[in-house]
Amino acid sequence: MCGIVGYLGAKQAYPILINGLRRLEYRGYDSAGVALIDGSELRIFKCQGKVSDLEAHVNGHPATGTLGIGHTRWATHGPPNDVNAHPHQATSGDLALIHNGIIENYAPIKEELVQRGHSFRSDTDTEVLVHLIDDIQRTEGVELGEAVRLALASVVGAYAIVVVDRKDPDTMVAARRSSPLVIGIGEQDGEFFLASDATPIVEHTRNVVYMEDGEIAIIHRTDGLRLRNIKNQEKTPFIQELEMHLEALEKGGYDHFMLKEIHEQPRSIRDSLRGRLNLVKGEVVLGGIKDYEQKFIQAKRVLIVGCGTSWHAGLVGEYLFEDLARIPVEVEYASEFRYRNPIVNEDDIVIAISQSGETADTLAAIELAKSRGATIIGICNVVGSSIARVTHAGSYTHAGPEIGVASTKAFTAQVTVLALMALMIGQKKGTLGGSSFHRLLNELDAIPDKVQRVLATEAQVKYIADIYKDARNALYLGRGYSFPVALEGALKLKEISYIHAEGYPAAEMKHGPIALIDDEMPVFVIATKGSSYEKVVSNIQEVKARKGKIIAIVTEGDRVVKELADHTIEIPETADQLVPLLSVIPLQLLSYHIAVMRGCNVDQPRNLAKSVTVE
Ligand code: AGP
Repeated sequence: MCGIVGYLGAKQAYPILINGLRRLEYRGYDSAGVALIDGSELRIFKCQGKVSDLEAHVNGHPATGTLGIGHTRWATHGPPNDVNAHPHQATSGDLALIHNGIIENYAPIKEELVQRGHSFRSDTDTEVLVHLIDDIQRTEGVELGEAVRLALASVVGAYAIVVVDRKDPDTMVAARRSSPLVIGIGEQDGEFFLASDATPIVEHTRNVVYMEDGEIAIIHRTDGLRLRNIKNQEKTPFIQELEMHLEALEKGGYDHFMLKEIHEQPRSIRDSLRGRLNLVKGEVVLGGIKDYEQKFIQAKRVLIVGCGTSWHAGLVGEYLFEDLARIPVEVEYASEFRYRNPIVNEDDIVIAISQSGETADTLAAIELAKSRGATIIGICNVVGSSIARVTHAGSYTHAGPEIGVASTKAFTAQVTVLALMALMIGQKKGTLGGSSFHRLLNELDAIPDKVQRVLATEAQVKYIADIYKDARNALYLGRGYSFPVALEGALKLKEISYIHAEGYPAAEMKHGPIALIDDEMPVFVIATKGSSYEKVVSNIQEVKARKGKIIAIVTEGDRVVKELADHTIEIPETADQLVPLLSVIPLQLLSYHIAVMRGCNVDQPRNLAKSVTVE
C-alpha cells in the first residue's frame, strides 16, 4: 500500500506535500517522491528511502509551485530504488503521475506502447499508465481529464492515481478503483487537497469528499471540482465533515505511535462501547446492524473473514458467537476464502473485519460472498473506508486512527464489538440466560478500568523483555479464548522485533512443537483462571520438565503458576469470554519493548505496510 498526496491552491505545495507524506508514511516507506508545477516548469524529485531522505534530496533545489503531488511507496512491481520511485513521467515529459495499487494488464499495454515508440525507464506498472495517458492525450488531442478517462477504460486492476500536466498548471486529475482517495475542499476558494486517507488533510480542512470506485475527479483552480465516471457521466460530489481530529495523529509524548496506541486502549475500548452498552436497561444497541438483527438471529452460520490481527480477532469472535449465541462459525483467512470456491448461502452472515477497511484480500472475499447472496456485516475502524462502503451494514470500532503498523488498539476494539454482537444476538435468541447476560454486560463495562490496571504492569513487562530480547525463537500458548491471543502475541513479536514466534493451542504443543523446547526457548503462556486452567498448568509442567523458560500471564493472586513459572504477569480477573481484552495487553507491551531494545523501527517495521491494498 502506498501513500498519495496532492495540492492545488494559492500556497506553496512542497511543504504541504512533505508534511502529508510524513503522515502517510505508515502506509509504505521504501521510496518517496514529489512533482511540482510552477508555471510551465515541471520538477520531479524522488529517491529510495524515507520521506526524510526525500527532503535531503530536495534540499538546495528550487521546490516552488502551487500545484504538486507526492507519493511514498510500498513496492509491488519493481524493487525499491530511485528509478522505480513515484512520480513517473512519460516520453513527452509533460505529465507526472503517482499511483497506489496494481495495473494487472500492464504488460500487454506496455508491449503496444513500445511498438508505438515509447521507451521505459522503470520496472513499474505505474510508468505504463502514464505513458498510456500521454499517448492518448497526444493522439486524440484531448484534455488531461479525458485522456485519463480513456486510458482507465482499458486498464484492469486497482488504482488510486493523481496526474498533473505542465501544459495545464491549473488542473489536477485523480481517479480511484479499489484503492482509497479522499479530496479535501480547502477553506479558501480554489484550494484542494488529495490524499489516500484523511490524515494529511485534517489539519487543513474538515470538508472532504470520499471518492467512489470508478470516479474521476477533475480539479481546477477556478472551475473547482468536477466528478465523472468512466462512462463520462457527471456525478455530484458529496461533501462530508471529517470526524478525525489532529491531536489523534500526534504521538502525544510517547516515543512511538504503537506505545501511544497500546496506552489508549482504556479510552478506545470505552469509545467502542459508548452508546452501545446500556447497563440500566440491560441491553446492547448496535444501530449499524439494526436492520439485520433478524437475519443474524436466523443465521444458520456466520463466516468471519479477515487478515492478520483482524483474523485473530475473528477467532475470538468464533468462540464468542458459538458460546453465547450458539451459531456455528467458520473463520477464514480472506486470502484463502476468496480462491477456494467456498460454499456460501443466502442465509449466511459474513462478518468482514478490517482496521483499515482497505485490505485487498478482505475486499475480494466480501465481493465473492456478496455475489453468492450472503449478508455482509463490516467491523472497520476507518470511517468511509472501502470495506465500510461495500458491506450491507456494520459497526465501526471507533478506536481512533491507528498509525503504528502493528495493530494493537484495533484488535481490542474489534473484540469488543464482536463481544457486543454476540451478547446482543445471544440475548435476543434466548441462548444466553438473563443472569449470564447481565453478568457479562457488567464485566464488559468494567474492562476499560481493568485494562488500565494491566498497563500498570509495564515495568514488569519491560524487565522480562530485557531478559528475552535476544531470543531467536519464542512459543506462545493458550487454550480456548486465549488461543487466538497466543497467535496475536506471536504475530506482534515477529512483525516488529523480527524474532521468529509461533502461537499454538496449549494442548497441541505435545503433538510436535514440544520438540523445540529447551533452555533457549521462552514460552509465553496465558494461564488465567477459567475453565481450562488446570489443563494449562499441566502444559506448563510439561515445558518445565524440558527446561523451557515460562513467562505466564496469570490472574491476580494466582499462587500455583507463580511457583512453576520463571516470570508471571498478573492481570485482573474477568469472565473467560473477555480475557482476550486483558491478556493481550502484556503481549503487546512485551513485543514493543523487545523491539525497541533490539533497535527495530517499531512504527514502520521492515517489509511491512499498515494496510495491504494489493493481493
Ligand atoms: C497486524 O499487526 C498487521 N499490521 C497486519 O496483520 C494487519 O492486521 C492485516 O494486514 C489486516 O489489516 P486490516 O485490519 O487493516 O485489514
